[in-house]
Amino acid sequence: MVELRFDGQVAVITGAGGGLGKEYALLFASRGAAVVVNDLGGSFKGEGSDKRAADLVVDEIIKAGGKAVANYDSVEDGEKIIKTAIDHFGRVDILVNNAGILRDRSFLKTEELDWDLVQKVHVKGAYKTTRAAWEYMRKQNYGRIIMTSSGSGIYGNFGQANYSAAKLALVGLSNTLAQEGKSKNIHCNTIVPIAGSRMTQGILPPDLMDNARPDLVAPVVAWLCHESCPENGAIIEAAAGWVGRYRWERTRGVTLRKRTDEGLSPEKVRDSWDEISDFRGSLHPESNQEAAGLIGEIVQNLIENTTPATPKSINPDDP
Ligand code: NAI
Repeated sequence: MVELRFDGQVAVITGAGGGLGKEYALLFASRGAAVVVNDLGGSFKGEGSDKRAADLVVDEIIKAGGKAVANYDSVEDGEKIIKTAIDHFGRVDILVNNAGILRDRSFLKTEELDWDLVQKVHVKGAYKTTRAAWEYMRKQNYGRIIMTSSGSGIYGNFGQANYSAAKLALVGLSNTLAQEGKSKNIHCNTIVPIAGSRMTQGILPPDLMDNARPDLVAPVVAWLCHESCPENGAIIEAAAGWVGRYRWERTRGVTLRKRTDEGLSPEKVRDSWDEISDFRGSLHPESNQEAAGLIGEIVQNLIENTTPATPKSINPDDP
């Protein structure tokens, strides 16, 4: 079996002083990458700072014969983190946006500071770091970027309105960067992990805490960041050695008008609600163009007064 290697490449991992980020840093370094170990070293709520978090991981990598340098900036100053990569190693090939904090409170009790800090670290931080790396990746015609989302973003979670909003924002960012980066061989994928870490201490049940180890997510991130991985724009869930994938799903829907001069009433919507919500034979649009294409076809059919029961773009043979 040919080992997946990252020799000659430079990986920047944010929030790599512990938890998942530390395992990413150790794995990339053990596979030949020079690693920028970024960590502000504050509390899981985003308070304080401590250089030791990043330093300890760098020491571990160097003792094992790898190459690494620490960076202690907040991801809110992402350009400084990328500068560390350029100053020390001359390039940046891989960026794993992993740094994160929690400020959990029910929505009623969430204060503006809880909202702002979570958005700043997760969304602004990923934006700043990625924006700085983007220039270099475009010039070298190569890049692999990871955004870190969460089940809380995808499904919602009581007490995490701020975090859910931030985590799903990263999926949107990844979806667009995957398209904008494609022609320059820059891939952007999203990881949705579950792992026992200080962030999930007291939240995950003990069995999950012990078995969903962060080192079981790292190989998935490593594969997504390898030059031989064709994946771009994927949302991948990984936990405890299980790996799966998300995609969008929509119902076939119903056209509630037969003519362009016909209006729509709330009652008409209500009366078709079961059919509107029927996921049998559902569709999985893979792009905005594909999703909007159906609407374009429906409008054309209305104009031509030829509304077929099933628009052409919905393949009647679909299960
Ligand atoms: P963790 O708390 O162990 O690691 C996060 C690291 O980010 C910490 O070392 C922290 O010092 C660093 N950090 C925080 N703010 C920073 C900033 N402004 N600049 C630079 N570094 C900063 O947590 P864990 O579990 O390893 O989480 C990693 C990522 O995975 C986070 O984005 C988290 O939201 C996400 N995640 C984790 C899940 C889990 O089950 N552990 C579930 C879903 C998502």
